[in-house]
Amino acid sequence: MAATENQGQGTQQQGPEESRVFEPSAAFAAQATISGMAAYHAMVKEAETDYEGFWARLARENLSWKKPFTRTLNEDDAPFYKWFEDGQLNVSYNCLDRNIENGLGDKTAIIFEADDGTVTKASYKELHEKVCKFANGLKAKGIAKGDRVIIYMSMSVEGVAAMQACARIGATHSVVFGGFSAKSLQERIIDAGAVAVITGDEQLRGGKKLPLKAIVDEALALGGCDSVKNVIVYKRTGSDLPMVAGRDTWLHDLVEGQSAQCEPEWVDAEHPLFILYTSGSTGTPKGVQHSSGGYLLWAALTMKWSFDIKPDDVFWCTADIGWVTGHSYIAYGPMAVGATQVVFEGIPTYPNAGRFWETIKKHNVSIFYTAPTAIRSLIKAADVDPKVHPSNYDLTSLRLLGSVGEPINPEAWMWYYKHIGGEKCPIVDTFWQTETGGHMITPLPGATPMVPGSCTLPLPGIMAAIVDEAGQDVPNGQGGILVVKRPWPSMIRTIWNNPDRFKSSYFPEELGGKMYLAGDGAIRNKDTGYFTITGRIDDVLNVSGHRMGTMEIESALVANPLVAEAAVVGRPDDTTGESICAFVVLKQARPTGEEAKKLALELRNWVGKEIGPIAKPKEIRFGDNLPKTRSGKIMRRLLRVLAKGETITQDVSTLENPAILEQLKEAS
Ligand code: WTA
Repeated sequence: MAATENQGQGTQQQGPEESRVFEPSAAFAAQATISGMAAYHAMVKEAETDYEGFWARLARENLSWKKPFTRTLNEDDAPFYKWFEDGQLNVSYNCLDRNIENGLGDKTAIIFEADDGTVTKASYKELHEKVCKFANGLKAKGIAKGDRVIIYMSMSVEGVAAMQACARIGATHSVVFGGFSAKSLQERIIDAGAVAVITGDEQLRGGKKLPLKAIVDEALALGGCDSVKNVIVYKRTGSDLPMVAGRDTWLHDLVEGQSAQCEPEWVDAEHPLFILYTSGSTGTPKGVQHSSGGYLLWAALTMKWSFDIKPDDVFWCTADIGWVTGHSYIAYGPMAVGATQVVFEGIPTYPNAGRFWETIKKHNVSIFYTAPTAIRSLIKAADVDPKVHPSNYDLTSLRLLGSVGEPINPEAWMWYYKHIGGEKCPIVDTFWQTETGGHMITPLPGATPMVPGSCTLPLPGIMAAIVDEAGQDVPNGQGGILVVKRPWPSMIRTIWNNPDRFKSSYFPEELGGKMYLAGDGAIRNKDTGYFTITGRIDDVLNVSGHRMGTMEIESALVANPLVAEAAVVGRPDDTTGESICAFVVLKQARPTGEEAKKLALELRNWVGKEIGPIAKPKEIRFGDNLPKTRSGKIMRRLLRVLAKGETITQDVSTLENPAILEQLKEAS
């Protein structure tokens, strides 16, 4: 099991001792889907009393089944749990056709806000037509149920349509964030055994054109990708691009002449809807496999419970479809409940740091969901330039705010509450993970009294708990390991191609093999039982809400011919939550001064090329060696202290080479 030596690393100082409490307003509670704590407790009770009955009821009420299920949960092969296994449905049908049948055909599904501010809208009928043509086009290329399709696209209606089109024909998509390098893309293509890649010519971010198709070409040229027979290219910028005959097709040519009707492929509830690669503490990224039925149920339900979605809401989740948040709360959740949402191509600081606030006003956004890192950077921007302070914008359309991806420090929470929410909008601080498929621990906006920095209480049916390393419950007020004691419908089903790793990563024997290990540390408040997440207990970093493994970055560094050894640690960062600090030993003598600067830059760019710009270390320190125990183990714990610029107070007597600490204290 993951070592807990670094528990709580990197998170902002916050604690279960935070005493400010913010009750949801009576007006909000009165109209809320789950109104008041009594309603919450009643649902918790229902789940505890009849766990399967609770989920079965919700699955019947919230999804349309082609063939109803008769068995709710199958635990025979635990931890490979199956939900609603004999039921059949189609995710795209549930997100599109069902809304049209319910009279929402002309309702706006997507308001697309382009990088340059151009707006295009798609109604449910129009989106349905786009998805059906796309799906028929994919079928015409021989892509069928069970095939894996990589989607390497930027934020666009077409990106969302690509995911829905795959779902419609039962192909399993794997979206790769557009910021990942050719090598990362190649690794994912190979691991997934993808038959096709859907991409764009280029992406537009902050007024700049960035490559997509060129990186796909590069990835495929790296070799090992023979499974890929087709590359579909959405024309976004119109730049001149080489197309490979017999392999590459423009999206507009693919859909040309295709029927606007496409019978959905009815799949079993357990059919893999998608694989999404995410970082673990060791090895290559893991292909987190999600189901169709259980996943969609939770995406829809959390839209109702956590976001209190109503027919007139305009929902805006600022995530990218390359991350799980963009799956559950852009591509699937909002449409599963017939909502109107904003899909945003740009970045929060272009043309200036008022872009989010301007866009909220422009589209009358009522529910806004973003990451603490964005909030923190916009607080700074508003301090520097009062013109982009939110007080200059009309934000009165907002009624609910959300936060995701990393712990939100109480100061950022207060600013968000006051300046964006006008002290009237509840904030849902949603704790969840790629593996959980949707929210796990979060306030309910019309019920839960909020405490800044705490994600408060688990959603009904989520049996979250805090245990020690032997799997025993710890009392409130004492920190420990966050686990979930019962399976839930939207949980990860396996790691693609690696069931053993699934078992050992998430259901370790040390905890009895039946508890889901989240990988985070947490503590519950003595009085309220509220959860506060204290940070990862493994070697996973969270930089600007992006998840990365220290091992991956270390592997990228040592792949450079100059590098003999590398150790990567995270350290707290005011804006990005955590930042990456790398300690590097070169094959040549330790560089200093200008030489060190030059080599650090070279290595940063190397990591950018190997993994993607998000993985570039913020700082690189060179040493003659790394601090090691006599058995040769690198003492990362000490490196974390050095990275923070703190003095080492721990016992270093087990170190082989204590003198090295002095050298690594400061930037080279
Ligand atoms: C962290 C993102 C504190 C946590 C949805 C988790 C959070 C990891 C919160 C998953 C939150 C996410 N408060 N920490 N509200 N939300 N995290 O897979 O460490 O990209 O394990 O999923 O982000 O990141 P992932």
